[in-house]
Amino acid sequence: MNVNDKGYIHQRLLKMITDKTAVVGIIGLGYVGLPLAIHFGRHGFRVIGFDVDARKIDKILHGESYIKHIPEASIRELIDKKQLDVTIDFSHLKEADCILICVPTPLTDKMEPDLSYLLSTTKTISQHLRQGHLIVLESTTYPGTTEEMLLPSLTSSDMRIGEDFFLAFSPEREDPGNQTYTAVNIPKVVGGVTRPCLEASVALYNTITETVPVSSTRTAELTKLLENTFRSVNIAMVNELKILAHKMGIDLFEVIDAAATKPFGYTPFYPGPGLGGHCIPIDPFYLAWKAKEYDFSARFIHLAGEINVSMPYYVIEKTIEALNTHKKSLNGSRIMLLGMAYKKDIDDDRESPGYAIMKLLSEKGAIVAYNDPWISQLEPTRKYNFQMTSTAITPEVLTEMDAVIIVTDHSGYDVEEIVKFSKIVIDTRNATKNVKDNREKIFMA
Ligand SMILES: NC(=O)c1ccc[n+]([C@@H]2O[C@H](COP(=O)([O-])OP(=O)(O)OC[C@H]3O[C@@H](n4cnc5c(N)ncnc54)[C@H](O)[C@@H]3O)[C@@H](O)[C@H]2O)c1
Repeated sequence: MNVNDKGYIHQRLLKMITDKTAVVGIIGLGYVGLPLAIHFGRHGFRVIGFDVDARKIDKILHGESYIKHIPEASIRELIDKKQLDVTIDFSHLKEADCILICVPTPLTDKMEPDLSYLLSTTKTISQHLRQGHLIVLESTTYPGTTEEMLLPSLTSSDMRIGEDFFLAFSPEREDPGNQTYTAVNIPKVVGGVTRPCLEASVALYNTITETVPVSSTRTAELTKLLENTFRSVNIAMVNELKILAHKMGIDLFEVIDAAATKPFGYTPFYPGPGLGGHCIPIDPFYLAWKAKEYDFSARFIHLAGEINVSMPYYVIEKTIEALNTHKKSLNGSRIMLLGMAYKKDIDDDRESPGYAIMKLLSEKGAIVAYNDPWISQLEPTRKYNFQMTSTAITPEVLTEMDAVIIVTDHSGYDVEEIVKFSKIVIDTRNATKNVKDNREKIFMA
């Protein structure tokens, strides 16, 4: 094929991807971007990681990991072999052939999509865009973002989509801390703006895992939101049923385990103290926001949000009831929260219900401490400002507390010991199910 032939740039990109001479650029080296960079590096690509956070870049360059479940050795190996380079200098985007965007997509205080990170990234890419670039958005967002927001800022009179550069959406399905499913065995859904865009992005992801091509970027965008709305709605349903089951004196966890023996038509979801993480509490609201453009109210999303947001209040109610049995008021009680990460065995505390519980307890005059083996210190967040360090769990500390609340059931917790030395244990996760002794101290919430 000749340089001037239509399709030459596309064919050249496909060849570079197939023989792994294409350079992969990853923008945003957080919970999604850093593991992705490692996977592409391990699969033989040269990877350049970009981030605006100079401290993170510095750590990676020194072979350090700032995400506990990502081993330092995996970073160091790639840095030493010069397979992975990281920088805050975005002019190196020109060296990358495939650019994957993994920046945050949070909500504003008014629960509306905050696309500021994505907008600034797109602007930066447009300043360095060149022929042969494949750009893939991995950040979760509402249907239409890729083509309504990214495409217009990248297209120009001399850069035509599908001929000069290629654009696609492929949602990230990373599940931090999950040892069974990682980037190598989680299929990647991919939607391209044009057929050549789809082909190039499918070729890229095929080098690391199985791909699921879909007909458009919108389809791929909505696929991710369906997955997370499905989780949010089902978690809300079991959270609501938990409250009913408590009133009926039935153990919902036992019910769920029994129902899970049905070999078809049922997927178990478990109740908890509320929703956490950067996905499930946020993503459905991207869809609900976009739905308004179609005069449509996404009722399941709103109802699930309402129930899940109310769960920390339920935990407080149960804590007050438990203290009441000891003739104690919440005001002035010493309460310890166990687990500030939003789920077990990871160090991610974003949107963790632990914070909502901590705030409600403090507002009611409780003296609050926390322990989390994964989070040694609480940093200020957009919503909360608890500057606190993790208190070690010792028999003395537990004895001093009026109540202990298990917010997250980290595997490292010795639940027998916790129950043995605590006066009251509020269990939001069924972590105490195998504890034989002192069961009268346990209150489910
Ligand atoms: N964490 C998850 O489990 C998960 C799973 C699936 C999808 N997602 C989605 O992936 C996206 C990224 O999430 P995350 O958890 O990795 O977020 P994160 O906050 O852990 O990481 C984002 C990184 O982007 C960097 N960044 C911010 N603005 C930037 C910019 N303009 N240029 C370059 N870097 C910038 C930040 O410094 C940070 O290091 C979000 O859309 C999220 O919804 C997350």
